[in-house]
Amino acid sequence: MQVLHEAKHTMTIPTREDVINIYRKRAKRYDITANLYYLIGFREGAYRKKAVDALNLQRGDTVVEIGCGTGMNFSLLQQAIGHDGKIIGVDLTDDMLAQARKRVEEKGWANVELVVSDAASYKFPECIDGIISTFALTLVAEYDKVVQNGCLALKPGKRWAVLDFKMPSSRVSWLAPLLVLLTRPFGVTVELAERHPWESINKYLRNASMTEFYMGFVYIAAGERARDGC
Ligand SMILES: C[S@@+](CC[C@H](N)C(=O)[O-])C[C@H]1O[C@@H](n2cnc3c(N)ncnc32)[C@H](O)[C@@H]1O
Repeated sequence: MQVLHEAKHTMTIPTREDVINIYRKRAKRYDITANLYYLIGFREGAYRKKAVDALNLQRGDTVVEIGCGTGMNFSLLQQAIGHDGKIIGVDLTDDMLAQARKRVEEKGWANVELVVSDAASYKFPECIDGIISTFALTLVAEYDKVVQNGCLALKPGKRWAVLDFKMPSSRVSWLAPLLVLLTRPFGVTVELAERHPWESINKYLRNASMTEFYMGFVYIAAGERARDGC
């Protein structure tokens, strides 16, 4: 199955340029569009909350969000870390970060740093307390390296959590084309489902867990950095 790019060429795996173009076009209406998925029973807010909870953050912690987009997780992260903590939001698309900046200014948050960067080349700060990525890591071809780099930057015992789409279990696999259709405005293709970021969480982190939601279309994978490395 292929997804038609808005520029009218077919796209099976979006390039970085494709991703930037898609999200530049979507940035201003991203939050509204994302909330529309509630109409089909997609409990996006509940999944975000579970992903943030999976980090076990404490007041004063520093957390990095990879592919933070417009900052839809920032309120939940703020509740966990408080004013003394810090959020570092990283994203490839300038216009998505412009929306995130607007959110930060409107809320008056002084503890958020926004970084325009490709996750693949992002240099994580040392000794961080948590890393989260929601509906973004599957878009990054080098996801395995990103998970490992992040793991190496975590303090021992601190956690990485990924919330993302995946192909469903065989029981409802006939619904997969519909899911791809519904998520196609965000660059999702069947070919992207070949990427399995949860396996990288299993590979590099200790006590890894994976929970599926929405008939297996959505998962949260999380684990903690071992004392002896990644
Ligand atoms: C579906 S949005 C998710 C945004 C946000 N995490 C959320 O849950 O609402 C995917 C985001 O990943 C970003 N992204 C895609 N590829 C990336 C990469 N290689 N490095 C950093 N960000 C990337 C896009 O720019 C976009 O903002």
